[in-house]
Amino acid sequence: MHAVGIVAAAGSGLRLGAELPKALVPLGGRPLVCWAVDALRAGGVDDVVVAVPDPQQAAFTAVLPADVQVVVGGDTRTASVRAALAAAREQVDAVLVHDAARPLTPPDVVARVLAALAAGARAVVPVLPVVDTTVVVDDDGVVAADVPRPPLRRVQTPQGFDRTTLVRAYAQAPGPAVEFTDDASVMRAAGIPVHTVAGDERAAKITVAHDLRMAELQLPGERN
Ligand code: CTP
Ligand code: MG
Repeated sequence: MHAVGIVAAAGSGLRLGAELPKALVPLGGRPLVCWAVDALRAGGVDDVVVAVPDPQQAAFTAVLPADVQVVVGGDTRTASVRAALAAAREQVDAVLVHDAARPLTPPDVVARVLAALAAGARAVVPVLPVVDTTVVVDDDGVVAADVPRPPLRRVQTPQGFDRTTLVRAYAQAPGPAVEFTDDASVMRAAGIPVHTVAGDERAAKITVAHDLRMAELQLPGERN
């Protein structure tokens, strides 16, 4: 199976609040996007396409390996993935879509996603259980209902797809009025079943400054 990796790196990182776009923010001295590309490759992905913010295109090209394809992303994550998908080679069977914001994703997670695709799944996501009590609150912040926890999962990336099915799902996805937070929901909107494999806490997304500090602590060697 030949797989292409798409790295969504075109966000601005508003919640992180750094001066650079989040994907260029260094972790252990290397931009997050470089870690994310390495994770995909270490797990068995052949080619990589990265969606980047238009104004910083040159800065991304300067830090990424020369054999990584760089495309301009869009205003939403969905638009960015759509742009990368259009640029990806048509010869591949599988597409893995990964967040640049998940730099320390272990190669095993990537390998599990690829294995599920090789076994016939058309869509697969890595998931983890929800560990906190989870509730619904009303407009006044008062708890209105408990949510049964056993069936709940947190969804991570990379998410893996049969390429043809993903291209079709994106082609028939509703316009920007409907916001998708990941690619598996684009597939589900097209009626495609989404399978799951075990995720990993180390594939956590860097969203706020605390997450970056936690990631720094996970780095091996003298940095600890
Ligand atoms: N992303 C993207 N294009 C966008 C928005 C997001 O490629 N228009 C990417 C981000 O670069 C990130 C991933 O999607 O790797 C997950 O998004 P998120 O964590 O929300 O990152 P940002 O949108 O950059 O952060 P924020 O929402 O805090 O601004
Ligand atoms: Mg965002």
